[in-house]
Amino acid sequence: MANKRRAKITALGRYVPPRVVTNHDLEKMVETNHNWIVERTGIHERHWVEKGTPSSELAVKAIDDLLKRRGIEADEIELIVVATVTPDMFFPSTACVIQNKIRATRAWGFDISAACSSFLYALTTGAQFIESGQHKKVLVVGSDVMTSILNPEDRTTLILFGDGAGAVLLEPCEEGEEDYGILDYHHEIDGSGGEHLFMPGGGSLNPPSHETVDKKMHYVHQNGQAVFKFAVRKMEELSTNMLAKNNLTGDDIGCFIAHQANLRIIDATAKKAGLAPEKVIKNIHKYGNTTAATIPLAIGDAIEDGKLKKGDLVLFAAVGAGFTSGCVLARWAY
Ligand SMILES: CC(C)(COP(=O)(O)OP(=O)(O)OC[C@H]1O[C@@H](n2cnc3c(N)ncnc32)[C@H](O)[C@@H]1OP(=O)(O)O)[C@@H](O)C(=O)NCCC(=O)NCCS
Repeated sequence: MANKRRAKITALGRYVPPRVVTNHDLEKMVETNHNWIVERTGIHERHWVEKGTPSSELAVKAIDDLLKRRGIEADEIELIVVATVTPDMFFPSTACVIQNKIRATRAWGFDISAACSSFLYALTTGAQFIESGQHKKVLVVGSDVMTSILNPEDRTTLILFGDGAGAVLLEPCEEGEEDYGILDYHHEIDGSGGEHLFMPGGGSLNPPSHETVDKKMHYVHQNGQAVFKFAVRKMEELSTNMLAKNNLTGDDIGCFIAHQANLRIIDATAKKAGLAPEKVIKNIHKYGNTTAATIPLAIGDAIEDGKLKKGDLVLFAAVGAGFTSGCVLARWAY
């Protein structure tokens, strides 16, 4: 067995489709208004794909960006872990589709389904293969085309989501970087929350039929208030527990990157964890909730805005359908 090393993120790539859909654009599609959306969610606009664009296509563009930034070729990748709730199709996995498209000829891979928590699940899963010494280059990808599963007539969900992709590369920490990389994580599921956010049609329970389509079962169904209450409570709990477990306070954290589902959830968590507002990364105003892509998109904004620098402690947190949830503590390594 090779030496055990912590996993660190060494590169990031991002992609959002060029089409911007503003709240005012949505006013023409459903009965809603800009002020309601901004007050309740913090979202001003989001990016939507042209119909028929699959998640793998966004992912490949984000990965191309990553490979260029890291200066490596796709055939150096050993494992591809894809977080998505909108795979191109049930099978083959989106990891297989991506592997073929980017010609990552030496890689194996698989998909992870944990909705809005899936990027953090994928990150900690990918990290295990670095820490075990089995792999030296693991690609963790979050990509979702939420518009492929949104009901265009449902104002309660249509306004919330956007499309996008992000990818990070995990590599082992070098000698002398013992305090860097992914330091700790905690994940949970609470399946009793499944009834509050789900897509009932299309799987083995309700195989696609005229009836499932007529009943709009192939779209996202959500009890927004139940999800909101759980998300606030769980994200606060996981974040404060992670700090306490590592003998840290909010002052020790350089950057807080939460899943971007609702500005009010992010703000409430940051306040409870004692995180100063300038440390809290927010990009929901321009992307909405891009499910598996929100965390890598937010990492990119944090770096660009000079809010995430080498040596910073960064706290990631997410809650999603399932319910799924997770928290990751890392020391940024580049
Ligand atoms: C969806 C969400 C923004 C709704 O906000 P809310 O404050 O809970 O609003 P409510 O659902 O109580 O709706 C309040 C009113 O606004 C109306 N409304 C709902 N969507 C609307 C829209 N897009 N535009 C205008 N009005 C709307 C409702 O019909 C309701 O009207 P009523 O009082 O006459 O019945 C909020 O619940 C939320 O963010 N939930 C979590 C979602 C989430 O994080 N999902 C992803 C999981 S990671």
